[in-house]
Amino acid sequence: MSAIVYLTRKAEFSASHLYHNPQFSAEENKRVFGKCNNPNGHGHNYVLEVTVKGQIDATTGFVVDLKQLKDLMHQEVLDALDHRFLNKEIPEFFSLIPTTENLALVCWQRLAPKLAAARLHRVRIYETPDLFADFYGEV
Ligand code: NI
Repeated sequence: MSAIVYLTRKAEFSASHLYHNPQFSAEENKRVFGKCNNPNGHGHNYVLEVTVKGQIDATTGFVVDLKQLKDLMHQEVLDALDHRFLNKEIPEFFSLIPTTENLALVCWQRLAPKLAAARLHRVRIYETPDLFADFYGEV
């Protein structure tokens, strides 16, 4: 048995969003979401952290192929979400409010099925340096 190590790769992307629940009245949307309910949206510079968990490969010393992980993050998340209006351009958010919490969930759903040797352990999304959400695949 080789040692289990958690490896994290970090990347940034920018996107805009707004918070709106079509089941709420206009007043409720304003009350619950405040400024974030502005229909024209607003942007954030998000930071994504992807942590994978795996055994150190005795022949490489790696838990994951770093280039593969980087490419996967680009294909599944960064290239798809960067400079997008999440509500209008990302299918998952047509019916899901693009909060930081839901972004963590969507990033997990996009990445987890594509990882083989090292398994996805945590997705962390920073909306600002002071606010982030973690998802560990728990339901
Ligand atoms: Ni916002």
